[in-house]
Amino acid sequence: MTPADSMAQIAAEVSRCAACPLARSRTHPVPGEGAVPARLMVIGEGPGRQEDEAGRPFVGAAGQLLDRMLQAIHLDRSQVFIANVVKCRPPQNRTPTDEEIEACAPFLARQIALVDPDVILVLGATAAKALLGARTRITQVRGQWQAWGERAVMPTYHPAYLLRDPRQKVVVWEDLRQVADRLGIPL
Ligand code: URA
Repeated sequence: MTPADSMAQIAAEVSRCAACPLARSRTHPVPGEGAVPARLMVIGEGPGRQEDEAGRPFVGAAGQLLDRMLQAIHLDRSQVFIANVVKCRPPQNRTPTDEEIEACAPFLARQIALVDPDVILVLGATAAKALLGARTRITQVRGQWQAWGERAVMPTYHPAYLLRDPRQKVVVWEDLRQVADRLGIPL
């Protein structure tokens, strides 16, 4: 019998991983953090500079906005699990390549299985493509329930994009309202 998987095991494997070139340029791997299991799992693109320095996801400006997005549906980051499609920072914050996303995908799949969320909140175009397929356009699927296997997926805009274009916040609040509704959280 294989031993049960765990987040600690995944984090240890991520820290030893050299499956793609991002391993060579990272300062710290950023495996993800939060509650296991959790009713909500949040998936972003990949670590930025501050995340790479801290070894933790969403700790920079976009992370502070993510915290406020979660607060809007009465959740704290300790109650959800936060991960990224790639666990190591792409140099200059470039978009991760398909090969890098593919190399990291087994870690994400194991994390989703462990977190066993009722809802996956997918942030931005890259994460949406990684989970829902390469042809996915975030502008087309945003705010509409999707599926990853049996799991409900709500794609929405990335908080970094909202920092650049705050007018888009109104539609994201609508997406979050749908997530709260699905989780039975009264607003
Ligand atoms: N943007 C992401 O997609 N993930 C992080 O962890 C931080 C910023």
